[in-house]
Amino acid sequence: MTVPPLDQPLDRTADQAPNQPLDRRVRIGAVYTRSINLARDGNTPELVRAYLPTSRALQSLRQIADGLTKDAHNRALALIGPYGSGKSTLGLFAGALLAAPETELHQAATTVLDGADRDLSERFRSAVAGQRGYLRVTVNGIPDSLVRQLMLALAIAVEQAGLPPALQEELLGVAESGAPMDAVLKLVSRVQRAWAYAGGSGVLIELDELGKILEYESFHPQRREIHLLQLLAEHAQQASPTPLQVLVMLHQAFEHYSHRLGKQLRDEWQKVQGRFEANAFLEPAEQALRVVGAAFERDGALPAAVSAQLDRASATLTAEGALPLGLEAEKARQLFDRCYPLHPVTLLILPTLCQKVAQNERTLFSYLGSSEPYGLGERLGSVAWSPPSPAGGGAERLRLAPFWHAPEPAPARHYSLPRALRARWLPHVSGP
Ligand SMILES: Nc1ncnc2c1ncn2[C@@H]1O[C@H](COP(=O)(O)OP(=O)(O)OP(=O)(O)O)[C@@H](O)[C@H]1O
Ligand SMILES: [Mg+2]
Repeated sequence: MTVPPLDQPLDRTADQAPNQPLDRRVRIGAVYTRSINLARDGNTPELVRAYLPTSRALQSLRQIADGLTKDAHNRALALIGPYGSGKSTLGLFAGALLAAPETELHQAATTVLDGADRDLSERFRSAVAGQRGYLRVTVNGIPDSLVRQLMLALAIAVEQAGLPPALQEELLGVAESGAPMDAVLKLVSRVQRAWAYAGGSGVLIELDELGKILEYESFHPQRREIHLLQLLAEHAQQASPTPLQVLVMLHQAFEHYSHRLGKQLRDEWQKVQGRFEANAFLEPAEQALRVVGAAFERDGALPAAVSAQLDRASATLTAEGALPLGLEAEKARQLFDRCYPLHPVTLLILPTLCQKVAQNERTLFSYLGSSEPYGLGERLGSVAWSPPSPAGGGAERLRLAPFWHAPEPAPARHYSLPRALRARWLPHVSGP
């Protein structure tokens, strides 16, 4: 299979300054390049508007929606996936869907979800209609006691929602490792009741980076704080006028964090995880490409010559069966257009490469948004519109293709990949 490089610059007839760098017309949306911190970013409508409900995300949102009833239902969900796979971003989006109906956050999220699954977004709308939405309790996991982190987060949520200060005091009073579990659970119930009284719809507890807390727990197993997760999951199952939803996010299954413990405790941890519905959270390549496509912004259309090249590249890649599963030829063609000047082959390889040897979307977006050496931003700023010279120039360099054919690792100037990624990738492609 041969897919030639894209050797045409953008429409130079419309451009009076052919030596202008590419970054004057092509940009990467800034919201895609920052890493998500639930506590810090939870109230940022721009992030919600930029969210792409991928297939995995929709599956998790449907599970959450199933628990929006006031009846008994399993409302404990664990998203288990590698670094940068979009777990925190989903947590942020779910929180926005459950926010109070008049907020910009809720309206932005339901509008985005309308585009993917109107019925699903209606379920979120009606869950909060006429009420104050879900009280959002966010824990950003650090190596610390689960009880302390959870009680502190509840106290913050209670204060922000204007619930009685006495309740906040009580929460702070048990925010210590070793606090009795029944006292902790009673306080969770009291928060639910106070929120119901204030006109709230439910309580959403999001525990991000739970792995950090589990690791801490594995060093202090005598405290048995892990048991609180089981109690919370069981409590969330109960019928309530303000139901509790528990969403935890972590990189690996619980057992991974329990390896230093004895068999009995490991079995116990396994049992605790069993209380959660577990979702393996890793997007297929085709879905990751959708997110990449959404991140590209460009002024003006591509000239006819480049479009013709993309037509040929799409036809070849389709005929060779090189498109990822689920990506139809027409969608692929649109994607190649959106992501110019990335070469189609580069584009198709990037998500898989980032999954295999790096941190998934995190690496992908830090490459796309980076202005540091070898980042795409830096390359766009340094590559001009000018037509390619015999030595190779313009958009032609933004491809991986030379890499595949290099008898030895190609010189850095021939391709554009993050430094760390390249170092790890090189051993995999040293052949012809
Ligand atoms: N569906 C999506 N829509 C928009 N952006 C996304 C989506 N999925 C991932 N991203 C982007 O990918 C990056 C990584 O996502 P996120 O921080 O949620 O990953 P994570 O799974 O929580 O990683 P970690 O386990 O390292 O915390 C973010 O910058 C985010 O903007
Ligand atoms: Mg995260």
